[in-house]
Amino acid sequence: MIERMIAAEWLPEDEEIFSLRPRTLGEYIGQQAVKDNIGVYIEAAKKRGQALDHVLLYGPPGLGKTTLAQIIAIELGVNIRTTSGPALERSGDLAAILSSLEPRDVLFIDEIHRLSRMVEEVLYPAMEDYVIDIVIGKGPSARTLRLDLPPFTLVGATTRAGLLSAPLRDRFGVLERLDYYSAQELMLIIERSAERLEVEIDKKAALAIAERSRGTPRIANRLLKRVRDFAEVAGRTLIDEELTLYALERLNIDPYGLDSLDIRFLRALVEVYGGGPVGIEALSSTLGEDAKTLEEVYEPYLLKLGFVGRTPRGRIATRAAYRYLGITEV
Ligand code: ADE
Repeated sequence: MIERMIAAEWLPEDEEIFSLRPRTLGEYIGQQAVKDNIGVYIEAAKKRGQALDHVLLYGPPGLGKTTLAQIIAIELGVNIRTTSGPALERSGDLAAILSSLEPRDVLFIDEIHRLSRMVEEVLYPAMEDYVIDIVIGKGPSARTLRLDLPPFTLVGATTRAGLLSAPLRDRFGVLERLDYYSAQELMLIIERSAERLEVEIDKKAALAIAERSRGTPRIANRLLKRVRDFAEVAGRTLIDEELTLYALERLNIDPYGLDSLDIRFLRALVEVYGGGPVGIEALSSTLGEDAKTLEEVYEPYLLKLGFVGRTPRGRIATRAAYRYLGITEV
């Protein structure tokens, strides 16, 4: 079982220095409505001296769900225990974590849509009444023992809210959807990260990276680090637009932020399947890529760009996709 415990009051110095993640709501850029709402719920819970209601964060990968969970714990002034749906293999794994929580602690479960049914069953009474039922023994002599838990906050994160069972979804008091960031917001994030990395970057360069980051801070920070490598080797102290565009070309990132797999996805859709409709499984075997990765990581941004459409019969290429590929629709 992979599990990590972070005391929210402090992070090891290395992590503090090297992490580009914001640590408070005030430092967090973008997702304004989500931030404002969560700020209110945290303040209210603190005023009442109660645990914050359970929070479900959903949206595409890389938008800051884990970061927000950590911020929630820091702002509440409590510890956070971090685990994930696939890591919780047996109900005992979850029971062990739950019974070690301190009052008002945050339990963060990433990829919560991948919890097994059995583990989910343990979660229901834990979320609702702060109790777990433990079965002792086997067969006719088996007994259940009810254990009280301290009040705690479950923060669940998922890229696929639709896959959550209704009873699980219904037990969250706060549901917040994270959306793609604007280029302006990403620019601010890049400038903040550059400051932390102690590199100088001009506005045009920051914007060039922001525009190619698919609305995603994780990608923006990754591209910034790679561009910094090119600057380092070129002996530049300032990251400017020219160097940035050169580096992004070397990285095969096009002006929309699309990489070679995105382009292969669009080409397969248009050239192999005549623009669709085609199922994700067929595209997956044509491309030799995992269907879930295509669906959860690649497709959402192509949908957002309006290059791909979804119909009940499968994916279709839009006119914008044909234009992007420079192919005439037949
Ligand atoms: N780094 C990554 N995501 C961020 C965000 N939303 N705000 C500030 N810095 C970030």
